[in-house]
Amino acid sequence: MIKFDFNKYIDKFLDKDSFNKYLRLKGDVLEKFSLCEMIGWTREIDKDLVNRCVELSKKVKANSDCLVVIGIGGSFLGSLCVNEMLGKYFNNDQFKVIYAGTTLSSKYMDELLDYLRGVDFTVNVISKSGTTMETKITYELIKELMKEKYSDSEIKERIIVTTDKEKGLLREEVNEVGYESFIIEDDIGGRYSIVTPAHLFPLAFNIDLDKFIEGIHDGKDLINEAYMYSVVRRMMFDNGKVVENFVAYEQNMYYFTEWLKQLFGESEGKEGMGCFPVSSVHTRDLHSLGQFIQEGNKIIFETFFKVENSNLVNYKNSDLHSINNIVLDSVEAAHFKGDVPCNLITIDEVNEYNIGKLMYFFMMSAAFSSLLFEVDPFNQPGVEVYKQEVRDNLKLD
Ligand code: PA5
Repeated sequence: MIKFDFNKYIDKFLDKDSFNKYLRLKGDVLEKFSLCEMIGWTREIDKDLVNRCVELSKKVKANSDCLVVIGIGGSFLGSLCVNEMLGKYFNNDQFKVIYAGTTLSSKYMDELLDYLRGVDFTVNVISKSGTTMETKITYELIKELMKEKYSDSEIKERIIVTTDKEKGLLREEVNEVGYESFIIEDDIGGRYSIVTPAHLFPLAFNIDLDKFIEGIHDGKDLINEAYMYSVVRRMMFDNGKVVENFVAYEQNMYYFTEWLKQLFGESEGKEGMGCFPVSSVHTRDLHSLGQFIQEGNKIIFETFFKVENSNLVNYKNSDLHSINNIVLDSVEAAHFKGDVPCNLITIDEVNEYNIGKLMYFFMMSAAFSSLLFEVDPFNQPGVEVYKQEVRDNLKLD
């Protein structure tokens, strides 16, 4: 079950005329969306592909202690956030999936290589372009280690590549060496790629993929809610509320809010438009950012995630989860008094189905919202600017 409450504060913060104006644009926005080239993520997920992910994960489990996923941005955040939300905090008996390639920290790399020296591992390198610098450097350093540990034929068994079907260095390497590989299709960009093997394969190790995919499929029913959310966001922007704070009350939803930040930040943030996405984990951040949100610059609106059911921990005459949710309700009311409006998204529990459905809802919302800002939801020209600067300054062979 997922419930959306986007209307609560409309009377106080948003005027009815512009609200109706944006609602009338719905037909145009949906038509523009249907004409976009990069909406391959709206296709049904191929069952054979899912079976292949599951079968290959079994093979990897049989000869490895862990899977090392190398990727950045849209090539890692989706599966990481789902794995985090569905994993355990302690005594995690799940198969270990390690994420690498998101930092150039030598301390991290040195310690990672040291750790990998002592275990058997398989690598899944993921890059649609096949040229991303962080991914390339991490992959090459780990491959060097593999050469010390494994024979050529073992390395061939232990590298799985996910990339474009024709272009890029990774595809060239697959063609040359014959690694097992997956394809990220041309019409699906990184931050919308949760429906591709870039994420389905790393997820196949520990979660029920069928339920997750069922949720993604049913997310399509939330088209009206997704449009409504994008209208509210656009109107918040018009009213000077240009920062959206995604707020989780479960610590393991932290990377989900990171995924949202990328999705909205890269989709909308162009041509001077867009709401800047930030995130908080409560109650922790109430003791830091809470002050600013309550009384600081009134540029913020929020989207809270409420989970109805969780583990039972009794506390006095109540239980800890009810206390957590009472805090959520109270914070929402307090922030409202401080002129900070809040959208509320409630799920009955954190499970594969709800997460899949919510992710699809947000992908539609990010696309509709960008179209309401009249920008292309699917490109990221700004990211290319820094990449070019790095290429110009970094002289590597
Ligand atoms: O959403 C996007 O397109 C980006 O965040 C990319 O996913 C990211 O830059 C990684 O690109 P690639 O998969 O080509 O290595």
